[in-house]
Amino acid sequence: MADVRSPTLPDAQTAVEAPPSPTHVTIRREDYRPPDWLVPEIALNFTLGIESTRVQSKLQVERNPEAADKGDVIRLNGDGLKPAGVWIDGTPTDKWSMDCGDLLIELSGEAHEIGIEVEINPAANTKLMGLYASNGMLCTQCEAQGFRRITFFPDRPDVLSKYRVRMEGDAGQFPILLSNGNRIAHGDSADGRHWAEFEDPFPKPSYLFALVAGDLKANRDTFTTMSGRKVDLAVWVREADLPKTQHAMDSLKLAMAWDEKVYGREYDLDQFNIVAVGDFNMGAMENKSLNIFNSAYVLADQETATDADFDNIARVVAHEYFHNWSGDRVTCRDWFQLSLKEGFTVFRDQSFSADVGSPPVKRIEDVRVLRAVQFPEDQGPLAHPVRPDSYIEISNFYTATVYNKGAELIRMFHTVLGPEKFRAGTDLYFDRNDGKAATCDDFVAALEGGSGVDLEPFKIWYSQAGTPKVRARIEHDAEAKIATLHLEQHVDPTPGQPDKQPMPIPLRTALIGSETGHEICPERLIVLDQARQSVMFENVTEPPLLSINRNFSAPIIVEAERSPGELERLAQTDTDPFARYEAMQELMMRALVVGARGGDMDREPVVRAIGATLRSNSLDPAFKADAIMLPSESLIADRMDVVDPDAIHAAREELRSAIGSALHDELIAAHRSDSAAGDDLSPAAKGVRRLRTVALGLVGAANPSEAAGLAKAQFDRADNMTDRQGALGVLVSLDAPEREAALEAFYHRFHDDPLVLDKWFALQASAQRADTVDQVLRLAKHPDFVMTNPNRLRSVAGVFGANHWAFHSADGRGYAFLADMIIAADKLNPQVAARMVPPFGRWRRFEPKRAAMMRQQLERIAATPGLSKDVYEQVTKSLA
Ligand code: PHE
Ligand code: ZN
Repeated sequence: MADVRSPTLPDAQTAVEAPPSPTHVTIRREDYRPPDWLVPEIALNFTLGIESTRVQSKLQVERNPEAADKGDVIRLNGDGLKPAGVWIDGTPTDKWSMDCGDLLIELSGEAHEIGIEVEINPAANTKLMGLYASNGMLCTQCEAQGFRRITFFPDRPDVLSKYRVRMEGDAGQFPILLSNGNRIAHGDSADGRHWAEFEDPFPKPSYLFALVAGDLKANRDTFTTMSGRKVDLAVWVREADLPKTQHAMDSLKLAMAWDEKVYGREYDLDQFNIVAVGDFNMGAMENKSLNIFNSAYVLADQETATDADFDNIARVVAHEYFHNWSGDRVTCRDWFQLSLKEGFTVFRDQSFSADVGSPPVKRIEDVRVLRAVQFPEDQGPLAHPVRPDSYIEISNFYTATVYNKGAELIRMFHTVLGPEKFRAGTDLYFDRNDGKAATCDDFVAALEGGSGVDLEPFKIWYSQAGTPKVRARIEHDAEAKIATLHLEQHVDPTPGQPDKQPMPIPLRTALIGSETGHEICPERLIVLDQARQSVMFENVTEPPLLSINRNFSAPIIVEAERSPGELERLAQTDTDPFARYEAMQELMMRALVVGARGGDMDREPVVRAIGATLRSNSLDPAFKADAIMLPSESLIADRMDVVDPDAIHAAREELRSAIGSALHDELIAAHRSDSAAGDDLSPAAKGVRRLRTVALGLVGAANPSEAAGLAKAQFDRADNMTDRQGALGVLVSLDAPEREAALEAFYHRFHDDPLVLDKWFALQASAQRADTVDQVLRLAKHPDFVMTNPNRLRSVAGVFGANHWAFHSADGRGYAFLADMIIAADKLNPQVAARMVPPFGRWRRFEPKRAAMMRQQLERIAATPGLSKDVYEQVTKSLA
């Protein structure tokens, strides 16, 4: 086992056989240099076996004319590999050495063929990076640096190669053999073995390489592109899962048509494959023409998947498909540019989901995710810019900042330019950078070139971390009929960035008449780019209400001077649905913050606003469900100077209970409201189901036994997973006999379906109860709990880490549990373990006792011998 200890730990920790050089090095963006050698072509030959796979490679290498270094050595990255043989131009050579896992070969001259042979063990690969085994099949994951676990290669995204791949294996064990591009030949060999050969005509970086071998069946279909080419589509799964693939297939076809219509992007190969695997670190992966998916984002039917699951499948299928252009055809020069493909592709998938569903509801959900995950990141010790300046382990930078804030940045460009100019910009971007590895600056330059608009000031959004805070105050001169909006912005310091510059902030703003409720000053786009700025509105004939950052036009925190009465009025009259939602959230938040500080909550305006929302005939149910949901406990915590989780929980429960009793009849009516059939996936039907459960939750806060009865009835009657999971989600937090009965029935029915069993674990780990820590400790000992499966691990440890009240339990047992899980998981799968660290990161903001306990656990993790660099980076940064 390679020693990956930090060079900064005290001597006593240093192993006798220290690694040849430090392994926890910081990589910096400013150190980027073009590669010394290019690899225009690579041929790979796999002899497949679950426990032993032989990989023979032939690399056509040539010097990069743009390289600074003309040295006589080529460095090929490797991770855990040992060369069984090395050849130069067909002749065996021993002019090689190893350095930190990399292979160094002495090489003079301009161009050569390098041959390398290695043997790897996919079954022993618990990191799930490189080639690994899952359920008897073999599959790969190479982003970001997994290819170096398969063979030696310059494993960086700016080295693009044409791939030719041959694989051979047992025909019974691996009836299906897949790789990127077109299958150009196949056949049988001796002893029941067979082989196939693939060629991908598009040069690609190694992180987009993929191989799959296993006993899979396909749901097949075709798509005819806008230029009339027929593409064969396939979704590959185990035979028993075939009936659950139709939604993924339908989503794929919708996404293909959408990208043609909205971005003019056509698919470019004759085949497009999606493969579902049960063990996967992330959501899915955009390998050229062979997308590999976490099965959670492929498999769905009405009995086993919720409406949210269906939406997520459509979103992720679209996301990976869209990467074919924003990622594969145009890739990233280096990993600091990750948001170039991810921010843009998230923006694309968000627009797609909005178009096929309800735009305001989608926007509300995207903002909720941003606030729940990205805002805390931006305000904590792991804060980093959308284009980071340094990293120790790149896997740690697949973050909400790079993805979701990155998408907000693209959305701001879209807002400022308008759809036509934005499209002219993206056309130029794809045109100019096709087949290249590009940078975020290249993207902005193309938008500028296509639109004729100077976007230079906006680039600070790529480099400056932290969420800007904007103070807004409106002043009305009734006689002159003039309103003046005073704006002020400020960004708090983040690690490595003590002093911040003002940022250009696009604010969609309108004024609503407080008497008439009419839009008295229609929406306009204000770009706040100074520290302070004032804007005038004319013809303001009545006292105005400020409607600002409409549709969440900038990823910021608005602190507007508005009274509860004004917020209540806006919640009912604002012409922008998002702003209406926002007014409601702000109204609730203000009461909750007062309550969490031990003050008297002003419940009346909240109750009135929720009542009016529930009774409205014009609002659709999905919007109602969003609007009446209280801000989460962690969101409330973000507003507190010193966080006391018990006080936050108590205040929130008190308000929920007040709502539940004051609006009992309205909530029951919403709960009972008719829904279409369980297989009706229209936005309207989904909205009805959503509201049914949200309303039931509020009833439960005031009247647990009534809610338990209703929930059990909903559970027993359910003909779809949305109603079933919703009911169980209400029950798990209640103390009622129905709780155990429903949990048991659910387990009994679904324990053979891993994705549904994940829900069973997750629901219990998310329960709002005093004994959740005990429950979770038991779940971790349950025979169905396996740490090697990332989905299962996340359904217990990941979900628990996000359960604010339970994780922050005053006795510290929640902290100890999560730290134990991180330490244990790190030995198997560092990438997944590191993603569970962030809940500890905000320790400084908690009351002293909890802060000390959180810090202690971070120190305990940091002191664990043999810590991976993934967890090492997250933990040391959290402590710094
Ligand atoms: N590139 C993938 C996506 O966003 C995410 C991913 C990253 C998957 C790293 C696996 C490993 O679509
Ligand atoms: Zn992506």
